[in-house]
Amino acid sequence: MTKKTAPQKKVILLSDMPVTEQLLLKDRALAATAEGITISDNLQPDNPIVYVNEGFERLTGYAREDILGKNCRFLQSEQTDPKTIEEIRRSIREEKPCSVEILNYRKDGTPFWNLLSITPVRDESGRVTNFLGIQSDITKRKNYENSLRQVSAELKQKNLRMKKDLEDARQLQLAMLPKTLPELPYLEIAVDMKTAQEVGGDYYDFHINNDELTFAIGDATGHGLKAGTIVTATKTLFNTYVQLDDPREILGKISGSLKEMGFRNMFMAMLTAKISAKKMVLSSAGMPFTYMYRPADQTVRDIQLKGVPLGAFPDFEYQSEIIDLKKGDTFLFLSDGLTESKNPDGEFFGEKRIKSLFGKISRQSPASIIKQLTETATKWMGCPQPHDDMTLVVMKIK
Ligand SMILES: Cc1cc2nc3c(=O)[nH]c(=O)nc-3n(C[C@H](O)[C@H](O)[C@H](O)COP(=O)(O)O)c2cc1C
Repeated sequence: MTKKTAPQKKVILLSDMPVTEQLLLKDRALAATAEGITISDNLQPDNPIVYVNEGFERLTGYAREDILGKNCRFLQSEQTDPKTIEEIRRSIREEKPCSVEILNYRKDGTPFWNLLSITPVRDESGRVTNFLGIQSDITKRKNYENSLRQVSAELKQKNLRMKKDLEDARQLQLAMLPKTLPELPYLEIAVDMKTAQEVGGDYYDFHINNDELTFAIGDATGHGLKAGTIVTATKTLFNTYVQLDDPREILGKISGSLKEMGFRNMFMAMLTAKISAKKMVLSSAGMPFTYMYRPADQTVRDIQLKGVPLGAFPDFEYQSEIIDLKKGDTFLFLSDGLTESKNPDGEFFGEKRIKSLFGKISRQSPASIIKQLTETATKWMGCPQPHDDMTLVVMKIK
């Protein structure tokens, strides 16, 4: 099949037209364009404007008579960036094209951003006789850019402030922790706390009275400064009630006081234990299991004590468990940071893994047990910093 082709019409090009018609058409086209178009005469003193189109009149508000014969610098003011003016001056001097974004003013004094491009025009001998200027109003784009810049600067400021708040919260949280570990003839202790990037509110504390140790490990709900605040309150209350004999009573009192302080929707999970050479009494307010290894039985027991976090129900009756201690008994207390640490597939480390790992390593020293647990957790997460605070306390009866 042969394709039919339309008979070729001869196109009349601009150059085919008579010269006067060509000039008139070019003139009309220049007048119609939205951009400002200016031509200066480089051979006259101070490079005056000798042609402007209607676009330039619309853009600047100046009439042709106001402009012709003048240098275009009258559109500038003291607010116009001198570096931009210098850039134009240099290009004109070196007879090179340039394109700048310059702040100009209309006849009525309103500012506008002018995307100005200036191109030298040469005669047959190569001499620059004129410059062609094209002006476009880019005020909208500039304003948009400026507001974006402002918003971004404000966000940066906010971000800095938030980072500082978080750092303050972390410092507050760390200041609440004991500076040294207690030394007791019957007990070996090791502790490790890894704080999350966003402060998670873990807390632990020790208090010794006549060779009896009162121990606390806690975890505030929420993050950041709020968590830091409830931890501070809890520490103060722990110091106030630590002399009470029964850990259940300590938890009950702290819970009542926190409730009174009115931390809205903020609670503190906490476990307290009274430990002497022969006996440990434990009570828990919403903390994860405690793991206990007894060498004689060669088993790991998880001690589950039900109880709501402190500050929620002040009349809640907490449970307790009394354990007669034997040499070699090893305890692992922890916040939920390890249990809930996730691997890159989103899988929790979980209680089963903790129990099984602890069973394998519990004959070792507390420090070595902690080292192995944290190393395993780091491998599991694939990074050294946990998503939530992670506190581990290991105690071994000597
Ligand atoms: C064709 C042409 C158009 C120009 N248009 C503008 C303009 O729209 N706005 C502006 O601020 N400067 C414009 N200028 C630049 C100024 O006329 C002047 O060259 C500049 O201010 C630097 O020189 P000066 O130091 O002598 O002022 C234009 C220059 C030429 C040659």
